[in-house]
Amino acid sequence: MSIRDSLSNFTSGFGGFGGNMSADMAIDLGTANTLIAISGEGIVINEPSVVAIEKSTHRVLAVGHEAKNMINHTPDAFSAEHPLKDGVIADYDVTEAMISAFINKAAPRKYPWQAKPRIVICIPCGATSVEKRAVFEAAIQAGARQAYLIEEPMAAAMGADLPVTEPTGSMVVDIGGGTTEVAVISLGGIVTSSSLRLAGNKMDEAISMHLRNLLGIKIGERTAEVIKIKIGSILPFDDGRERDMIISGQDMVTEQPKEVTIQSEDVRAALIEPCEDMVLSIKETFKTTNPDLASDIIQNGILLTGGGGLLSGLDRYLTDKLEIPVWVSETALTNVVTGCLKVLETPTALRQTLMRSR
Ligand SMILES: Nc1ncnc2c1ncn2[C@@H]1O[C@H](COP(=O)(O)OP(=O)(O)OP(=O)(O)O)[C@@H](O)[C@H]1O
Ligand SMILES: [Mg+2]
Repeated sequence: MSIRDSLSNFTSGFGGFGGNMSADMAIDLGTANTLIAISGEGIVINEPSVVAIEKSTHRVLAVGHEAKNMINHTPDAFSAEHPLKDGVIADYDVTEAMISAFINKAAPRKYPWQAKPRIVICIPCGATSVEKRAVFEAAIQAGARQAYLIEEPMAAAMGADLPVTEPTGSMVVDIGGGTTEVAVISLGGIVTSSSLRLAGNKMDEAISMHLRNLLGIKIGERTAEVIKIKIGSILPFDDGRERDMIISGQDMVTEQPKEVTIQSEDVRAALIEPCEDMVLSIKETFKTTNPDLASDIIQNGILLTGGGGLLSGLDRYLTDKLEIPVWVSETALTNVVTGCLKVLETPTALRQTLMRSR
């Protein structure tokens, strides 16, 4: 069955979400984190999109937090893998195994005859039809009875309670681990959008590279992420004080363990280039927006969401560069899954959104 057929079945056979179809689920399948929410229960899974695999047998040993803790600490026989890259599936089998493990953890089926869940799952708006198909198939193979796709910025806007169905323009910038999605939404649909395969992970890489060149130290991906979250910022901090942090890694030349103190100004220098690329992408999308919607956006401001949007100072930096007010959502990490859940729970929103954002 094609995605389009499944959508029309879903919307025409609407009203089936009640009764014994109890464990229907919303999934934010992210490059960095996977979240699952269940109607009536809220968010039940919020774990890293990481899978630990035994290399010789390809057996899945752990998923989520447990697997992430194994990154760079695994013996040679095991590997800790990110099955999604840049917002889309990079390793189909591992992704399917991960979704399946999370679905089981979220709502284990007690009896084999129990109805499988219906699932609303997000995809980046830049995904190709092959990439969309892969997410759809992975959800079905992982145990969904039916799967329905929604574009990530639309879900994020709904999760953040933007007036998506109104005849006004709303702009969303969702900076995740793998992609920066920019979308203008009006009357329940995405009017214009862009998807840049650069987000939190590229910030981490930029920090690693900069510290290599500056201090001759090699650090792992988890250390780079911790640095970004603890002392990373794109503008000087509000209190006017800079931060520092002791980190450990390997000396570039001798490969011996090395400990150094790093300064927040150095981390900031590394973050300038990725942040400038994001500004360009947002400006390009804004340019293609019609003048009426553009004027709404200038009036209403831009919603900044996704974990990458939490980088210290990014809202002020974007406000300055774009000359439009940018506000960061208080629920930046959960808006997409909350929006997917709203789609599950609101028949009219569902009918309109799924059909228009496929
Ligand atoms: N306080 C913070 N400051 C800076 N970055 C942060 C902060 N908290 C989380 N992040 C970053 O946010 C990213 C994860 O965000 P999110 O969970 O929205 O991504 P995702 O949905 O998994 O990815 P994508 O949507 O690109 O597929 C990671 O790169 C993480 O390091
Ligand atoms: Mg995301």
